[in-house]
Amino acid sequence: MTGYGVQVSQMAPRCRACTLCACPPSSCCARPANDVASRRLIADNDALEVNIEMLVRPAASSDLDAINEIYNDAVLHTAATFQIAAVTMEERRAWLKDHPEKLYPALVAEIDGMVAGWGSLSRYATRCAYKHTAEDSIYVARRFRRMGIGSLLLARLIDAAVTAGHHSLIAQIADNNPGSIRLHEKHGFVMAGQLREVGWKFGRWLDITVMQKTMEELKIKN
Ligand SMILES: CC(C)(COP(=O)(O)OP(=O)(O)OC[C@H]1O[C@@H](n2cnc3c(N)ncnc32)[C@H](O)[C@@H]1OP(=O)(O)O)[C@@H](O)C(=O)NCCC(=O)NCCS
Repeated sequence: MTGYGVQVSQMAPRCRACTLCACPPSSCCARPANDVASRRLIADNDALEVNIEMLVRPAASSDLDAINEIYNDAVLHTAATFQIAAVTMEERRAWLKDHPEKLYPALVAEIDGMVAGWGSLSRYATRCAYKHTAEDSIYVARRFRRMGIGSLLLARLIDAAVTAGHHSLIAQIADNNPGSIRLHEKHGFVMAGQLREVGWKFGRWLDITVMQKTMEELKIKN
């Protein structure tokens, strides 16, 4: 899989350090005025519409620090994942090895050379008959949310799932996470059910919402 370069035009938070340009917080405020990422389109109090160049590509070992930082923020501060302890770099390196590009890809969304988010497909369950079912994970760094990055990553993961020969994609969404539910609905996932009080984190019970997308177009060969 090669990288996909795209532009998204979204409302993005203004870099508060900069009064001259409309660059998103990731960007250098000293960008030239004609740079696409700093082109001012609309101004209001706190948000500006900007064109942001984003690349989605397979994750590399040099991305693992950033992937871990984004994930561990969700581990330590949110109920979006049932993981409770921060993932170590050793575990993260093993994770990348477990994600061969053609079958269970790990992708990153890169903006301005920075990893803004990542997504992956993983084996859903180990019993053999589950082999055409995969589970997706998507995590976007806080400052890059609501800019279309999660949506772009999920679109690429769905493409990759079809190419890999997966028939069914599952999303297990913790704590009725509205952003994740909306993201998956937008890409054709439907509600498959709810598991009540299956997790315990931050002193309370957590539900899992299960969503599913079946790729009808895929012909299973065996
Ligand atoms: C959930 C998450 C991946 C969404 O990524 P994102 O880049 O912010 O999402 P997008 O900007 O592509 O938005 C996709 C859709 O979801 C909606 N959405 C995103 N966040 C939302 C929120 N907090 N509440 C309601 N809707 C939300 C967007 O409006 C958009 O729908 P629309 O096109 O109909 O307007 C991101 O918020 C995140 O990383 N959260 C923490 C980790 C997490 O929960 N991961 C999912 C684990 S299952």
